[in-house]
Order: sequence, then C-alpha cells, then structure tokens
Amino acid sequence: MSSTVRTLDKNGKDINIVGFQRFGFDCEVSLDVLRLLYLRKHYVKTVTSSSESVKDDEQDESSATAYFSKSIYHADTQSISYTTLSRFPPVKLLPPSKRKRILVTGGAGFVGSHLVDRLMVLGHEVTVLDNFFTGSKTTVSHWVGHPNFEMVRHDVVEPFMIECDQIYHLACPASPPHYQYNAVKTIKTSFMGTLNMLGLAKRTKARFLISSTSEVYGDPEVHPQPEDYWGHVNPIGPRACYDEGKRVAETLTYGFHRQDGVDVRVARIFNTYGPRMNPFDGRVVSNFIVQALRGEDMTVYGDGKQTRSFQYIHDLIDGLIALMNSGETRPVNIGNGDEFTIGEFAELVREIVEKVQREDGVEPKRVNIVYKPMPTDDPQKRRPDTTRAKEVLEWQPRWTVRMGLEEMVRYYKAKMEEGSI
Ligand SMILES: NC(=O)c1ccc[n+]([C@@H]2O[C@H](COP(=O)([O-])OP(=O)(O)OC[C@H]3O[C@@H](n4cnc5c(N)ncnc54)[C@H](O)[C@@H]3O)[C@@H](O)[C@H]2O)c1
Repeated sequence: MSSTVRTLDKNGKDINIVGFQRFGFDCEVSLDVLRLLYLRKHYVKTVTSSSESVKDDEQDESSATAYFSKSIYHADTQSISYTTLSRFPPVKLLPPSKRKRILVTGGAGFVGSHLVDRLMVLGHEVTVLDNFFTGSKTTVSHWVGHPNFEMVRHDVVEPFMIECDQIYHLACPASPPHYQYNAVKTIKTSFMGTLNMLGLAKRTKARFLISSTSEVYGDPEVHPQPEDYWGHVNPIGPRACYDEGKRVAETLTYGFHRQDGVDVRVARIFNTYGPRMNPFDGRVVSNFIVQALRGEDMTVYGDGKQTRSFQYIHDLIDGLIALMNSGETRPVNIGNGDEFTIGEFAELVREIVEKVQREDGVEPKRVNIVYKPMPTDDPQKRRPDTTRAKEVLEWQPRWTVRMGLEEMVRYYKAKMEEGSI
C-alpha cells in the first residue's frame, strides 16, 4: 500500500497545497493536512510541517494521525462503535483582526464539511447550522469541542440570529432523490431559508454567499453556459422544486442587494464530487464507484451519450473562498469544463477502481456497464463557461477527473472495509 500516491494537476505538476492567496485572504492549506481528515493515513504521504503535534503522533503509534473519529462495525450484533479524538487537527493561529466569524449553513453536508475543514484549518471561528436532513454529524465530528467551532441543529426555514462576518449559505438538499423526497420542503428551504439568512446578513452586515447551481440553466440551449444565459427550466417538472428554488433564491439575493445594500456573492456550482459524498444519493459519480467496488453492474441512464463535466471538491472550495473574499457581486460559475460522455465516464471509473484495487493487493473483477431509460427532464448537456471566474477570481480548476476519482475511490473503499457503506 502506497505512501507514494502522487497527485498531479492538469499541467502534470504535483499538488501539495490547495488554495491560494487572493484578495488579502490567505487560504493556502497543505493537501496532506486536509487528507488526514478524510483518507486513511497510509494514503497520506507525510505531514512535512515540523509541528510538534505531528511528531508526537508519529512516536505514539496508538494515537491516530488521521483525525476522523473512527467507526467500528460489529457485524455479529449489527452495531457500530464510534471513537472520539484525543487531539484536534492543528489550526492556524490568527490575530483577532484577521480571524473571521463564519456561519456555514448546511455545513454538515458534503460541500459544507470540506469548506468547514478549510476554514477551521485556516484559523477562523466557524459555526455550522444544519438540520441533518442529508448531512451528518460525522462529517465534522473531528471539530466538535474545538474552541473555534460550534454546531447548531437548526432548520433554516426558521429565523436564526448570531453575530458573524461572513455567511456561506449552503443549506439545501442537492441530489434529485433527496430534493424530490419532499418537493414542498425543498422549495421552502430555498425560499424561506435564503430569506432568513439574507435577513441575518442585513442585520449583522455580514457578507452573504449563496451556493446556487448550474441547474438554474435547466436543459440549456446555449453551450457552454455563461452567467448571462437566462436558462431553460421546466417550472412544473419533478426537478423544478430545486431548479426554481435556486432561481428564486438568486432573485431574493439580488433583491436584498439592490434594496438593502446587502453585500452578496452568488456561486453557480456545477457537478462536484469528492470524499464524504453520500454514496446512495443517486448522483452519477458515487453510483458508479460504489457499483464498481462492489463488483456490480454499473448503470448508465439513457444511451450514455449525454455529456457532463465533473469538478473535484477542493477546486470548488478554492473557488467559493476566492469568490467570498473578492469584490464580485455578479453570479460566477464554478465548475470544471472537461466534458465526458456518461459512457466514457463509466469506463474511466471502472479503470480507476481496478487500479486502486490492484494498488491495495486485490485482483479486480471486471464489471459490466448496463443501460437503463433516462429519467424525466435530465439535461442532455451541461458545461460551465468559467471565463468570469478566471478573469475576476484568477481561479481555474486544477484537479483532473482522474486524480479526483482516485482519491474518492480510496475513500469509499476504506468506508466499505470499515462497514459504514
Ligand atoms: N454537490 C454538487 O454537485 C452541487 C452542485 C450545485 C450546487 N450545489 C449546492 O451546494 C450546496 C451543498 O450541496 P451538497 O452537495 O453538499 O449537498 P448535501 O445534501 O450533502 O448538503 C446539504 C446540507 O444542507 C442541510 N440542509 C438541508 N436542508 C436544510 C434545512 N432546511 N435547514 C438546515 N440545513 C439543511 C443538509 O442536512 C446537508 O447537511 C447546496 O446548496 C447545493 O444546492 C451542490
């Protein structure tokens, strides 16, 4: 098993650091420090920083250098034991003038938990607001008890008051089975949740960023989609609760901006994947990986010719933090423009799963790719035009799909082995 995992960017250079210095906000963090929060430690090269805590850990075999609380599955009794941490991951010591009070709604979800990790490691004070509908306490449990961290169970459709400097408003189920489970609640979360959080931003003068989505473009007639494309959305279809919810959330955001001077940022996020994504929420990346790891047929909906682009989580977090700290109030697409047909993508996932299995000494079993009918209103094509992000944020995706998938496969494989998938 490898301590030689190398992660190369699109130009073939090693990725050791994520984030960058932009707009006076330092967001650089060692990739290995983040990996210790979600990958097994044999995949993490070394923590090269000479910090005492790391040395201590190396000497003390019994303490975990991976900072996620471990879960041990007992198959005989079908029970699970959780551990707590003996030490928190190290965070930067910021002077009070630089330390921000940051509220992350939906912070226990997939995107939110990675954002929380980054902001915590950077030394900020983070409050997570979540009703745990699709998120889970385990995604951020490595921070519970830390003096810079607070977690509040709260539904954003109800008002909430806190003093803060920045609000990342992410709370909303994001996968079709989850947002269609209770369509009325989804649209309520989008509308009332955003209304409440904008009200909070107005009262506290906090800067407000909303995670909007490429779904506001619907089934687009323009390809790739720039931010000034108005979209092509079916207002009464099964996806409308989410698509129209996000559109009205954007409308509200600009209403508060124009009327009340709230300082707003709108990120239109395209398909993103990475560790901690719910493996069973029907999104294509997790579906394919879990099926391939289990040795089951991989299911492609439609003829496999529809295209998608996939962005790795660390690129998204770089983009969200850059946008929050920039002066850009217009919507900004954040996504990876490398386009794949779903059929090609399935083959790539299968190849990477086989590679990681071999790396770990397991002889892979070749799985089949099978085709099933396409669900209603599934867009045929979706690819971001990220010119604006490049110009105003100096942001571009760095991760290749291959590198991101390798990391995600290692994560899911470990979760399966420990029995939590
Ligand atoms: N992951 C993607 O590819 C993607 C793409 C576009 C946009 N987005 C947006 O990013 C945000 C996060 O998405 P994600 O992929 O992390 O999804 P997720 O489902 O993993 O996370 C959403 C979080 O919000 C919480 N939540 C839901 N309803 C809530 C409510 N009423 N009150 C409080 N908390 C609530 C959930 O419990 C969960 O922790 C969402 O706003 C989503 O629309 C994600």
